[in-house]
Amino acid sequence: MSFTVFGVSYRRFPLLAAGVLAIVSAVLTTQPSLAAESALIDRGAYLAKAGDCVGCHTAPGGKPFSGGLYMPTPVGKISTPNITPDRETGIGDWSDDQFYRAMHEGIGHNGEFLYPVFPFPWYTKVTRDDVLAIKAYLFSLAPVRAPRRPIEIAFPFNVRSALEAWRLSFFTAATFVAKPDDSAKIQRGAYLVEGLGHCGECHNQNNLFGASDWSGRLKGGQIEGWYAPNLTSDGTEGVGHWTEDQIASFLKTGTAPHSGIALGPMRETINDSLKYLTDADRHAIAAYLKSVSAQQSYKPVVNADAQAPGSTGANAYLSHCAFCHGIGGQGIAGEIPALAGNGAVMAAGPQNVIRVVLGGLPAKNGLHPMPAVGADLSDQDVADIVNYVRTGWGNTAPGNAQAGDVGALRSTTPLAPQH
Ligand code: HEC
Ligand code: HEC
Ligand code: HEC
Repeated sequence: MSFTVFGVSYRRFPLLAAGVLAIVSAVLTTQPSLAAESALIDRGAYLAKAGDCVGCHTAPGGKPFSGGLYMPTPVGKISTPNITPDRETGIGDWSDDQFYRAMHEGIGHNGEFLYPVFPFPWYTKVTRDDVLAIKAYLFSLAPVRAPRRPIEIAFPFNVRSALEAWRLSFFTAATFVAKPDDSAKIQRGAYLVEGLGHCGECHNQNNLFGASDWSGRLKGGQIEGWYAPNLTSDGTEGVGHWTEDQIASFLKTGTAPHSGIALGPMRETINDSLKYLTDADRHAIAAYLKSVSAQQSYKPVVNADAQAPGSTGANAYLSHCAFCHGIGGQGIAGEIPALAGNGAVMAAGPQNVIRVVLGGLPAKNGLHPMPAVGADLSDQDVADIVNYVRTGWGNTAPGNAQAGDVGALRSTTPLAPQH
């Protein structure tokens, strides 16, 4: 059943529409505000996607937003809380002000400091209107009863008041300020990247607890055993040589012609969040990244030894990788990514290449799967290959992979399914 008031169809509220037919005065008062409420909830749903709330606030196999995922930190594991509107175990009794205070200031229901594993150092820049739209969306969900799982953070870091020192050094609540000379498109991209997108949570150098040395820098950083590369417009490590279309396509599908494929946590971010954005928002993000002035996180290195034909790394690459990725690291367009000029390969840290060699990759977007070539190689062989790949064919990353790094990542790198 559908019902129209002021040209707006209320198909989504058939029962209410029926009620309204009976009580005519309600048509004028209740109906328009419900339409506004439903638009607010839809906007909140979209913004919650942009913020990837579900990615952290859902345990494997658990109900969306009911929390329970354990997130690793250098000092222990923290469980995410339930943010469904259950009054006892979720946020059902939070006021608008309390919810905004959590997002804007990182302060919980009872005034306690929240750990910055929750990306409030980014969310602080989200407007109050957008935050309250997210709240309206969360409050439209069915409440789920799910008590907080124990937080396993070691003393003294488990004492929340100790976060005061961290806050004094690293956190100031802020609002987003657009640069007046930027186009509306770039301003929108900046708002998304610096706010809900919290790209810097991974793409900045992070300190203890995952708060970065400061938001908005995007010079690259380590995250859960991967390396999120520089996203400034630097042409070597950054996205300087990507076109806006390539970046936007990568953010939608996880692949971009000639620019590599999304790995690990980036693949998850795309699947939970970025692929749901509008093309206009993905292009805005891309345009903003292209506008961020180039910054290098390392001095490009030419390491003649590692590149020399006949070196251990070169030989191992020829035996184990060249068949697919080509003798010159050029890959096969549309089938196998190039390793020459590849940003994930040339990040400051060697983690991405190590993990891919150890675990392989599942098939993606018409690309073949990659077998776990390194599973049968020694830690030293893998390190030699990784250093060769990062320094060969004009790649200028530091050849800094050590056998010890490979050994450390081996136990936490699962083998990818090969289909
Ligand atoms: C990177 C992971 C991550 C993401 C993304 C994330 N959160 Fe959280 N969130 C956490 C963690 C961890 C905590 C617990 C912090 C603590 O206990 O100090 C938390 C706490 C909260 C709290 C406080 C709840 C309470 O009971 O104290 C709220 C509200 C919240 N998040 C809302 C959101 C919303 C809304 C989004 C999306 C816009 C979001 N979070 C995205 C990890 C995340
Ligand atoms: C049997 C073919 C094959 C072999 C052998 C192979 N690869 Fe791959 N590699 C692929 C394919 C296919 C992908 C893309 C997989 C996907 O995501 O679908 C890939 C992806 C990668 C990536 C990720 C690139 C990016 O853009 O993020 C790296 C790094 C990589 N390979 C390095 C290596 C190294 C180093 C070796 C040798 C130790 C190797 N590969 C051996 C087929 C292969
Ligand atoms: C949870 C961590 C995480 C978040 C959040 C995240 N990224 Fe990433 N990102 C990574 C990692 C790790 C890589 C390296 C592996 C790969 O290339 O996919 C990466 C790679 C990329 C690349 C490819 C860079 C290159 O040179 O190959 C782009 C572009 C990118 N991210 C953009 C973004 C944007 C824009 C955002 C925010 C909207 C974002 N990322 C948020 C972890 C993250």
